[in-house]
Amino acid sequence: MKITRVGVLGGGLMGSGIAEVCAKSGYETVVREVSDELAAKGVSRIESSLAKAVDRSKLAAADRDAARGRLSATTKVEDLAACDLIIEAVVENLEAKKELFRELDRVCRETAIFCSNTSSLTITELSATTSRADRFAGLHFFNPVPVMKLVEVVRTIATSEETIATVVDFAKSLGKDPILARDNSGFIVNRLLVPYLLDAVRALEEGVGTKEDIDKGMELGCGHPMGPLKLLDFVGLDTTYAIAEIMFAEYREKRFAPPPLLKRMVLAGRHGRKSGRGFYEYGS
Ligand code: CAA
Ligand code: NAD
Repeated sequence: MKITRVGVLGGGLMGSGIAEVCAKSGYETVVREVSDELAAKGVSRIESSLAKAVDRSKLAAADRDAARGRLSATTKVEDLAACDLIIEAVVENLEAKKELFRELDRVCRETAIFCSNTSSLTITELSATTSRADRFAGLHFFNPVPVMKLVEVVRTIATSEETIATVVDFAKSLGKDPILARDNSGFIVNRLLVPYLLDAVRALEEGVGTKEDIDKGMELGCGHPMGPLKLLDFVGLDTTYAIAEIMFAEYREKRFAPPPLLKRMVLAGRHGRKSGRGFYEYGS
């Protein structure tokens, strides 16, 4: 199946990055947000990232302009009616995603393929809200999307071989290196990463070290580009809390349980970089 037009739901951290790589790779890309203000914020995030790519000599100025020309933003789901591929990247909340997929199923062409960028929900549960479980897969990108090479392509028991082949080819056309994962909560990477991140919060709660030393330990001791608490701020503490709740409900294992400190930080509005404060403080 030929893909020319892509619809991205959500223009937050991930949706904006996904839309950027789609537009850069030659796809007509429509981003849907819930308000004009958030749509404009998403587009402005994409424009800053494209400018950064030009500054770093990763992208020619003419290609930036062409990518920007292929990109549009909307608040109407109907504007995604002509898309060949849908990538959902809204908040990590089952009911919000289900409601959206029901609406998309009514609006989009019968042949359109649906993908979710969910970190922890099962693709099977999302696909069951539509009439196209065979044309439904997980397409899980990594943050920051323009930089990270990996995507996880997730197959459910209902996903067709043709859909998987199309989604894998699409991921490669974005310059990504896909891996295949079964539809278990957290797939491959978050199944390993999330318990580690949560354990870093537990280490901080227990006073094992300061936040700076916990991060430095993993950066200098293990060569990680960011320590776990910095990475949590980068991913978003609200998103990580939602992921932990979902994975804990799925596996009933303590290693996935959100630590009380994480919950309190979310309740206090400390969502990480995106809110200006998480474990660390960030300038605007
Ligand atoms: N567009 C294109 N390229 C860009 C860019 C942009 N907007 N911004 C930066 N780059 C390029 C830079 O040119 C540079 O390339 P070279 O190495 O070829 O020079 C590279 O990206 C790194 O950029 P910087 O030097 O500015 O940044 P850095 O070295 O400080 O690294 C980082 C930043 C890539 C974020 C790094 O800190 C990192 O890898 N952190 C860990 C990120 C991570 O683990 N992500 C996964 C999160 S978990 C997840 O996503 C799943 C989930 O479900 C929660
Ligand atoms: P975010 O909070 O930055 O952005 C979510 C956006 O979705 C918000 O701008 C919100 O307005 C919008 N939204 C909510 N309901 C919507 C709807 N019905 N239609 C359109 N937009 C809607 O969150 P994020 O970090 O971009 O995460 C989005 C998804 O990607 C989640 O499922 C998350 O688990 C997953 N994910 C996140 C990361 C990460 O590092 N943050 C990495 C991989 C996957």
